[in-house]
Amino acid sequence: MSYINNELINEIRKKNDIVEVISKYVELTKRGKNYFGVCPFHDDHSPSMSVSKEKQIYTCFSCGKTGNVFTFVSDYEHISYIEAVRLLAEKVGYNLGNIKNKKTNNQDYEIYENSVKFYQNNLYSSLGKNAIEYLQKRQIDKDTIKKFGIGLSIAKISLTDYLIGKKYNLDNLIKLGLTNEKANDIFVNRIMFPIYDLNGNPVAFSGRIYNTHDNSKYVNSKESDIFKKGKILYNYHLARSYLKKNDSIIIMEGFMDVIRASTVGIDNCIATMGTALTKEHIDILKKMSDNIILCFDGDEAGAKATNLAISLLEEYNISPKIVRLEDNLDPDEYILTKGKDAFLNKINNAINVIDYKMELLKNNRNLNDVEDISQYIGSSLKELAKIDDDIVVELTLKKLATNYDIAYQTLYDKLIKYKNDNVKPKIKKIKPQKEPVDKYQKASEYLINYMLIDEHVINMVENKVIYFPNDNIRYLANEIIYYYHKYGVIILADLISYLANNEPLLTTLRQIMSLHLKENYTEEEIEDYIYVVNEYPKNMRVNELNIKLKKEENPLEQAKILKEIMEIRGVKK
Ligand code: GTP
Ligand code: MN
Repeated sequence: MSYINNELINEIRKKNDIVEVISKYVELTKRGKNYFGVCPFHDDHSPSMSVSKEKQIYTCFSCGKTGNVFTFVSDYEHISYIEAVRLLAEKVGYNLGNIKNKKTNNQDYEIYENSVKFYQNNLYSSLGKNAIEYLQKRQIDKDTIKKFGIGLSIAKISLTDYLIGKKYNLDNLIKLGLTNEKANDIFVNRIMFPIYDLNGNPVAFSGRIYNTHDNSKYVNSKESDIFKKGKILYNYHLARSYLKKNDSIIIMEGFMDVIRASTVGIDNCIATMGTALTKEHIDILKKMSDNIILCFDGDEAGAKATNLAISLLEEYNISPKIVRLEDNLDPDEYILTKGKDAFLNKINNAINVIDYKMELLKNNRNLNDVEDISQYIGSSLKELAKIDDDIVVELTLKKLATNYDIAYQTLYDKLIKYKNDNVKPKIKKIKPQKEPVDKYQKASEYLINYMLIDEHVINMVENKVIYFPNDNIRYLANEIIYYYHKYGVIILADLISYLANNEPLLTTLRQIMSLHLKENYTEEEIEDYIYVVNEYPKNMRVNELNIKLKKEENPLEQAKILKEIMEIRGVKK
């Protein structure tokens, strides 16, 4: 399933003993067969995480995090699974080079790589003088040009001709957004900024005008198989390599802002490609850092974008820090006019969401007026009532009490009242959300659990279970059966690697593992679970038939339906 073969991944896993690897991050103490440590994935105070040397699996009895050595490093270091494989491979002397997570259409990347080089050459040709001057004027030096692969498209030098000369097919160039239907270049006389995907492959361009007038300042490649705006963050691949543990990640609006920050040595910045943040972006960001700073343009549009981003991030339980730049400046202009230190000062003093919101609430209010103050405090407390973090709440209340000379208790009582008014149910932070457990779900989970422990159960499930009601569990069961037939044995730590390219199935597996279901069972118990699971499609059909029966008026038809119901129920006449 994965691009590097599973045997190699398993070999690398075997050479990275999980107890040794985790010991580098967390102090482990041996107790009985297993090792125990403080779980790094939640706010743990006693050692809740157990590591099994025998199974090469860790599992936290409190927050439920579980997996093999690769998932541990991936979650701890905020890197992708495949990056964790690469990291651990290097530790034991393997070089996996530039392995990719998924099989990809290499020619598309090749075309983009060629195009990047082509545009870079143009920049240093005699026709590139004006463009170089423009970049110099913007204080973008040679190193930066190189680092970001900046180039130039020129009307007289056709990229399309060049690529066709290299035997690439025209339809492909059109599909990739480099060429139009008339076989002309899409980008003409623009400074070209390559856009890289998460693995560092160029997959699109953004072209900026520099000495002409045009309605659009930037033109971006259209989306293609390899370029999906909602899933790409500008500078991700570089920022990732600079990011150290506990570093924050700064989100900006424009990629020019990111480039500017890099010229002064601030490399932990990323930007979306002219779109609002998406859920996919947030998934990527979560893996990068727990610490997200929004630093959008200082204008009104930037303020709006900030509010939108806050709402979206909050939906995913992320509370970002916020920087607002004065004088309508964007980060690029801010750094150029006020300097690196002034900018870093802004970043280091980024404010939390509640302070930011309370600052906004002051707008259009006269805070010398008693009524205005009362309204302001009321609105602030309403915002505060939505916040889960008790410490933030208490500190904010104290600040309000001092600033406006109001008794803490008065504010507190009012806050509690607002909290009780909040009907919206809160999403708990640590505990993974579980689907409501019905008897079918429970039986399915137990069966998967035992399939992982005993091959005999795999055979029983394969031969007797008609249909697991839950899609992911059904696919997972099929994968386990397939894996067992292929390898003749289930090694849980390797099964995790095997599923690593299939996020939903891996998540399902890890969720079931984190239930800590018991390990011993009787044959009868398994038969019972299989019976329950197999009841599901029958019960669904009976429900359907019952509904049909109620609507049916023809007695003959009614009799037919009843007969079918009885047959399903196994009642013989
Ligand atoms: P400079 O003017 O070169 O400093 O760029 P900027 O970073 O200040 O750009 P701006 O704040 O105007 O826009 C932010 C982002 O929106 C850019 O990085 C682009 O991704 C996108 N964008 C801006 N203008 C255009 C446009 O005309 N067309 C498209 N497609 N995207 C644009
Ligand atoms: Mn700008």
